[in-house]
Amino acid sequence: MRVPGDKSISHRALMLAALGSGRSRIRGLLCSADIESTAGVLRALGAIIPPLDSAEVVVEGLGLRGLRAPAADLDCGNSGTSTRLLAGIVAGAGLHARFTGDASLSARPMRRVARPLEAMGARVELAEHGGLPMTVRGGPLRGLTWHSEVASAQVKSAILLAGLVADVPVEVHEPAATRDHTERMLRARGADIRTDGLAVSFVPGARLDAADTEVPGDPSSAAFFAGLAALGASEPLTIEAISVNPLRIGALRVLRRMGARVTYGASAEQGGESVASVTVGPSALRGVTITADEVPALIDELPLLACVAARAEGETRVTGAEELRVKESDRIRAIVANLRALGADAEELPDGLVVRGSDRPLRGTVRTHADHRIAMAFGVLGAVAGNDVTIDDPSYASVSYPTFWDDLARHRQR
Ligand code: S3P
Repeated sequence: MRVPGDKSISHRALMLAALGSGRSRIRGLLCSADIESTAGVLRALGAIIPPLDSAEVVVEGLGLRGLRAPAADLDCGNSGTSTRLLAGIVAGAGLHARFTGDASLSARPMRRVARPLEAMGARVELAEHGGLPMTVRGGPLRGLTWHSEVASAQVKSAILLAGLVADVPVEVHEPAATRDHTERMLRARGADIRTDGLAVSFVPGARLDAADTEVPGDPSSAAFFAGLAALGASEPLTIEAISVNPLRIGALRVLRRMGARVTYGASAEQGGESVASVTVGPSALRGVTITADEVPALIDELPLLACVAARAEGETRVTGAEELRVKESDRIRAIVANLRALGADAEELPDGLVVRGSDRPLRGTVRTHADHRIAMAFGVLGAVAGNDVTIDDPSYASVSYPTFWDDLARHRQR
């Protein structure tokens, strides 16, 4: 099977195409609600972004100085990546804009991105709770060295993009390595990006080349089907052409540690990313321990891993994952409450959770809390023979994986 294009790379491909000099062709772009949010904001900033639902999306870049102030609020929908990365771009471009979003996004923390942008000389106003609406007034920015308290690729990327567009040097130190798509994609477009351990810096150069992108399949979307196959709820599955960037496939490493059969096909380089197929088959699964150092590489997959853990023998314990509380929902609370509602044994930790697996049938209704990954993770658990799970709002899958329910119906074993 194939899964849709990678969400992180799709956001960046559109943004960097709009900022590049010349024509960029994007193949395999994810066409989902979150990417529509990025496209909509870029259009409001003057970029010409064609409809996203074609095999090849062609963008004529405006160059690093080409964006203009929007006439209305920038609605980022449900998308944290759109908000934080575009805030960096707006600040760097010296523009004035107000970012808004849905209830889930509006509750999410924006100080983490406001503070470094302010330290560069932008003015940023947040709602009292530290979230949206967020007004960004850019200006001539100065360079910055920033030590981020949170391991966040979005914060790192916002600072790098602000530096790129304002043409000032920036250096970001992270507490743990996070996904490095921004760095790889900037480098592929001629920007001077240097990485030294957990520090990444941008050296001004005042240009960004146009580049074509072949977006690989999203390993975060693939994880749901890897989980389905690991649970024996489908035939063994080969998922073609996903990004196997080591900072993205922590969940596949964990599934293997739980006992699932996980093997990779030959990998190929594609626009600075390694791409390969992965084949997953079932086996007796056992509980595992997941600690802080592993979390960034599987942060989005923890809902799925917790659902798999509910069918594994013994205890699974996740710590160092407090970031889960500020995703599209408080995922620690949402996972544990939903597992319990189905009759599974789970408990919250301040920075993680504990799940004790069993093979008794799980039955009940799951609340998605406007969170696509909660909907899909419990959809996988519901596909296991003997379970009977109703998802209150399955439509949220469209945020990152619009064809998820069709794909699940096709591959689950009846
Ligand atoms: C993303 C970074 C992560 C991840 C999100 C996508 C990105 O968020 O959870 O789904 O594309 O940079 P944080 O930067 O908040 O960890």
